[in-house]
Amino acid sequence: MQKKITKAIFPVAGLGTRFLPATKSVPKEIMTLVDRPLIQYAIDEARAAGITEFIFVTSRGKSALEDYFDHSPQLEAELEAKGKLELLEMLKTTNMDSGQIAYIRQHKALGLGHAVWCARRLIGDEPFAVILPDDVIAAEKPCLQQMVEAFEQAPGNMVAAMEVPMDKAKNYGMLDVAEDHGNLVTIRGMVEKPKENPPSNLAVIGRYLLTPQIFDNLSSSSKGAGGEIQLTDAIAQELTEGRKVYGYRFQGQRFDCGSKAGFLQATVAFGLAREELRDELADYLHEIVNFSKAAQ
Ligand code: G1P
Repeated sequence: MQKKITKAIFPVAGLGTRFLPATKSVPKEIMTLVDRPLIQYAIDEARAAGITEFIFVTSRGKSALEDYFDHSPQLEAELEAKGKLELLEMLKTTNMDSGQIAYIRQHKALGLGHAVWCARRLIGDEPFAVILPDDVIAAEKPCLQQMVEAFEQAPGNMVAAMEVPMDKAKNYGMLDVAEDHGNLVTIRGMVEKPKENPPSNLAVIGRYLLTPQIFDNLSSSSKGAGGEIQLTDAIAQELTEGRKVYGYRFQGQRFDCGSKAGFLQATVAFGLAREELRDELADYLHEIVNFSKAAQ
């Protein structure tokens, strides 16, 4: 029987140069959408999918991320003493139990494939998830949960997939589709950031369910696109060895929070989704849209 997926890898070693100077001292994953750090959205999504072990692949300068998941007894005691029980409850949902969370250092920035490989000993011989926290996905049923349910019916390697404009294909891993069954597509190839002639307009988004053979592929991987060890190449190798890879067209809206424009869009969308902010923010947005129209 296929093992249940209970472990997830969060590659968080990147320098976040696109958000300098903020990322000089704040890890990108701690930057907030409304009032929750990016990483919290990823953790919530993982938990909803049944993940109980969280593995962070970090690098120098990410200690704020480790602190974020620590319990804060002093703060909790103060909130309790002041009767701020709602805040206290909310804070507790961000705590991790001892032993649920592990940190591995990626000593050299050799690419996403290498970052995932760094966690191999903590995964062992079972299927696992990878979540890229830059990709924030708003969905009624969280994206990873959708994928885990699909995986139960169709075990194998699975990547989240989404149509993108052809001229943006050079920014993504792109799928060569064999059969399209709607939500689930079978794949005959994958190419990381194709400079030209992408095989389709279906792009990989940062959610993966992978089988442990991937680590063998990564062990022997040579450098791919951008001179980095690419996860896409290791997954594509599964196909050449006759194993299954699926693309999963998820339901939901993805925000590219690795880019400033995407981050701003996500801030507005998540702000509008919050009851206590919705009216004021919507009024303001109408106002500035009307103002800019009038100015034209
Ligand atoms: C990574 C993956 C790429 C994928 C993308 C999704 O690229 O390598 O295959 O399409 O995430 O966000 P990155 O954007 O980290 O360069």
